[in-house]
Amino acid sequence: MKFLTVTQESLEMGANILKEGGLIAFPTETVYGLGADAFNPLALAKIFDVKKRPHFDPLIIHIAFINSLENVADFSLINKETRKTVFLLAENFWPGPLSIVLPKNERIPGIATAGLSTAAIRFPDNEAAQKLISLSGTAVAAPSANLFSSLSPTRAEHVRDSLGEKIDMILDGGPARIGVESTVLDITGDKIKILRPGGTPREAIENLIGPVDGSCIIEQGAEKFTSPGQMKSHYAPKTPLYVLKSDDIIRRPYDDTSVFLFFDGLTRNAWRDAQTKTQMLPDAVKVLSESGHMSEAASCLFETLHELDNLNVSRIFAQEAPQTGLGEAINDRLKRGAEKNQNMNHSL
Ligand code: TXA
Ligand code: MG
Repeated sequence: MKFLTVTQESLEMGANILKEGGLIAFPTETVYGLGADAFNPLALAKIFDVKKRPHFDPLIIHIAFINSLENVADFSLINKETRKTVFLLAENFWPGPLSIVLPKNERIPGIATAGLSTAAIRFPDNEAAQKLISLSGTAVAAPSANLFSSLSPTRAEHVRDSLGEKIDMILDGGPARIGVESTVLDITGDKIKILRPGGTPREAIENLIGPVDGSCIIEQGAEKFTSPGQMKSHYAPKTPLYVLKSDDIIRRPYDDTSVFLFFDGLTRNAWRDAQTKTQMLPDAVKVLSESGHMSEAASCLFETLHELDNLNVSRIFAQEAPQTGLGEAINDRLKRGAEKNQNMNHSL
């Protein structure tokens, strides 16, 4: 496996790997992707193998020009009004963290979309990703470059630690700017629907096209996801994670086997004031954003979870974010990361 920083030369090497049916991890503004030629079924099969990803979980297809939409989607299957909405969304949010679910072009093999007749398509806002895609001359299918259901990679090192030698190349473009995955928006049904909250906030989408249908809020006991692959348990650290509302985390006493992840400095201060124990392990307390700044919090969410996960403690307690803007995506990831421990959550 080659681990290279982004240069013209490494981008050209990466593009050749794609053309030859290989796998390359590359930076995007959201998280690192694991890319393969979207038209090559054998290359796509490797993505599923390497990630240990179930074949019912469809991939996102990445393009580097709005014009390329015609190569990956089939516009003959949607009406004029929907077509207008697609281009309105694309012109306003692309390049950027929005994946639009559209009828797929028949040239996209079924393995890419888990047999669905639709494909999620996105134009990433990262120069290296754009150059890689355009040099390859193809569209690039890329899920997040991590093992299935584990924490998403926001740095090239995260990819190396989890997928390492199983892929042909890792292109290091530094830490991901946004830090949570794209919003997945389905425009193929009667109502436009957010299938996964992400880097493009619901409010921004609604300002442009009016109200959109619910997202995949985790409801206890009920599987509410409409999209294949939108599993309740996902994005999980190895260490059991528990998500608590601010009032509850403030009341949670410190102990040496747990670490605490706060959304903002104010809540951390209130929690610290309530503690009787003053000696704490270094790194046991982290804050996503001292000032409670939402995009700062999102950008370091996965990175901080990776760090806490490596401390080998028994539990991570995390504070729920306010449910506005990117907070919807932060809470979605935290709650799915905590899903396996849900029964325990009741007794906390
Ligand atoms: O920001 C991102 O979206 C990153 C970067 C690499 O672009 N990619 C990413 O891919 O998060 P992945 O595979 O980890 O998540 C894609 C999700 C899938 O879980 C799937 O449910 C949804 O997008 N999806 C893909 N195609 C779909 C389709 N045709 N219909 C409904 N949902 C789809
Ligand atoms: Mg993923």
